[in-house]
Amino acid sequence: MHTPHHTQADTLDPEDWGALRAQGHRMLDDMFDYMEQIRSGPVWQPIPDSVSAEFRLPLPQQSGDIAAAHETFMRSILPYAVGNAHPGFMGWVHGGGTPVGMLAEMLAAGLNANLGGRDQMPIEVERQVLRWVCELFGFPEDASGLFVTGTSMATLIAVLVARHAALGPEVRKLGIAASGKRLTAYTSAGAHGCIAKMMDIAGLGADTLRMIPVNAHYEMDIIALEQTIAADIAQGHIPFFIAATAGTVNTGAIDPLGDVADVAKRNHLWFHVDGAYGALAMLSPKIAPRLAGLEQADSVAFDFHKWGQVPYDAGFVLIRDRQQHFDTFSSPAAYLRRDTQGMAGGSPWPCDFGPDLSRGFRALKAWFTLQVYGTEKLGQVVEHTCEVAQYLGLRIAQTPELELLAPVSLNIVCFRFRCSDPDRINAEIVVALQKSGIAAPSATTLDGKLAIRAAIVNHRTNKGDIDALIQATLALGAANIAS
Ligand SMILES: Cc1ncc(COP(=O)(O)O)c(C=O)c1O
Repeated sequence: MHTPHHTQADTLDPEDWGALRAQGHRMLDDMFDYMEQIRSGPVWQPIPDSVSAEFRLPLPQQSGDIAAAHETFMRSILPYAVGNAHPGFMGWVHGGGTPVGMLAEMLAAGLNANLGGRDQMPIEVERQVLRWVCELFGFPEDASGLFVTGTSMATLIAVLVARHAALGPEVRKLGIAASGKRLTAYTSAGAHGCIAKMMDIAGLGADTLRMIPVNAHYEMDIIALEQTIAADIAQGHIPFFIAATAGTVNTGAIDPLGDVADVAKRNHLWFHVDGAYGALAMLSPKIAPRLAGLEQADSVAFDFHKWGQVPYDAGFVLIRDRQQHFDTFSSPAAYLRRDTQGMAGGSPWPCDFGPDLSRGFRALKAWFTLQVYGTEKLGQVVEHTCEVAQYLGLRIAQTPELELLAPVSLNIVCFRFRCSDPDRINAEIVVALQKSGIAAPSATTLDGKLAIRAAIVNHRTNKGDIDALIQATLALGAANIAS
């Protein structure tokens, strides 16, 4: 039955849809302009005090004007974002986003779907993306998976499923201590800090994670891994989890995934792959063979918002054993009662596979991105970023004032300006580069040396941006020495 059409003054919908429509079109146009003209502005600029002051005002009580809020966004928010959509952004590991992803996000916001559960097409979209991920990674069709905020949350879910597999269902009621078992886990010294953090949050303790040394290519040393596992077993520990990395955050190294899979199998350990950005190298037929072994993982954590260029946030966790995944998180509740028909159908629901009950429609922007660009084009983007990184490595090798600090494995380049007191000066160069608005790398420490670190993730970054980075680095380095 339809309710008759009439305007209600007490809803949040506009009285004048026409005016809002025109306002919406202006907002959309502004964002198209932002993306189309992104090169013409700086990557980043410091936030003036007067701008931050605008966001220290009291809670508004009276209705405001959307046009005024939009004007504030354009003037005081948009110019002072971190700038990862800009081709000169090379810091940390940030994707560039796409206009298609932006539009999909708008559709998802309009639909306002809650993907915790129930029988609805948005969940079918998420299941479609899951099947595509299984196909891409060589996983069985019945593997399970879920969109989450990012690889950090995906890692927590993987650790909890592995913990459940090691300790059995009792752990959910009695906690870890009741088992009396001392679990240990393994990753490389080059691994991301989220793995130790999730060991802590999962109640296992960050110290249960053994940091295995790396070789000259910053890849996990397999012999050291086996020796550490053997030593732990001899001391009465119970090894349960190995996290290999496909694309480390510092240098882009890929651990020998096939060898790690073998060690995991021999010792009956859970084999997890942190593929935060690197797993999507599977999109490139050229690079994919270097990830051989990924298809054997028990779990993979990765982000569509990095190399996949999907707008933030769009992390994903993939788990081989659907039953184990379900058993780790499903929690019956009367108000979440399932049915075979009606809206309460479609069980199991996403909330049975993770900690979240209410969940947004992240899947739509990933579905649109895959549907519109296709894996060939997205794979070419991955390859292109690696070629741009190789070009930066080459330019560094040809420039006597610069020194490469690690081999360029994928898309990350660590280097520095040669000088006395290099740690201080290179840290200053990174800050000055960011403030210049020309190029924005970040800094890291490699073997005790401060490195300028450029991660080429954004599909818009090209060789001209690398030339600008080199030129600005040399100028700032020379000026720093002179001063
Ligand atoms: C290798 C690696 N693992 C984990 C993470 C954490 O991912 P997220 O920021 O999506 O939680 C990152 C982030 O850059 C990463 O590079």
